[in-house]
Amino acid sequence: MSKDFRIAPSILSADFSKLGQEVEDVIKSGTDLVHFDVMDNHYVPNLTIGPLVCDAIRDLSHKAGALIDVHLMVKPVDRIIPDFAKAGADIITFHPEASDHVDRSLAMVRELGCKSGLVFNPATSLSYLDHVMDKVDMILLMSVNPGFGGQKFIPETLEKLKQARARIDAYEEKTGRKIWLEVDGGVNPDNIAEIAKAGADTFVAGSAIFGKPNDADANRYNTVVGKMRDALATV
Ligand code: DX5
Ligand code: ZN
Repeated sequence: MSKDFRIAPSILSADFSKLGQEVEDVIKSGTDLVHFDVMDNHYVPNLTIGPLVCDAIRDLSHKAGALIDVHLMVKPVDRIIPDFAKAGADIITFHPEASDHVDRSLAMVRELGCKSGLVFNPATSLSYLDHVMDKVDMILLMSVNPGFGGQKFIPETLEKLKQARARIDAYEEKTGRKIWLEVDGGVNPDNIAEIAKAGADTFVAGSAIFGKPNDADANRYNTVVGKMRDALATV
């Protein structure tokens, strides 16, 4: 069965002292999206990067052929969405608990020309999707609690992925429109095939990719990304 799988390196685990080079090299290794984790020390207990950094990597990401996948872990979301749209985001996802008006926030992302998506924490119900499928381009399931890279994959996510996949397939059958199913947290070459079998088509990986050998070789990410592709080819 031939499938369309996407790998989304999370730059949270990249070397920020040479971020541009990191982004170029990881895209060159055959990845599709640049996963951009935005944390506010309020919705999650960590503080990361904002629109300024998104703007700084937009041209090199797009030139190299990758989309910028902005994962907002901030509350509230509406104030900051336009800033990321302006800063070159292609996809903007947010957590439904972080918006008082989920339908409005999703619509805002689309109106600004980006793909929109909802993110589900491990304990968050998929029922948030019940009335907004038409406004969603991507569903992101967290397989760790958000806030930090380098955590362990929570196995219960596999069952939840199957449920999300069933919703997406039923929706696609009815409307013909595709929705991507992304998974985020603890993904590595050893578990990626099992995660794909459960229904994911888009895979965020931070520490598994960037935590590897830190030499200056521009091809340094080929091995780990190649292992992920090989594992996906078995699905
Ligand atoms: C966690 C972030 C993830 C994180 C993944 O809150 O949303 O994107 O960077 O890192 P790994 O792959 O190391 O679990
Ligand atoms: Zn993320």
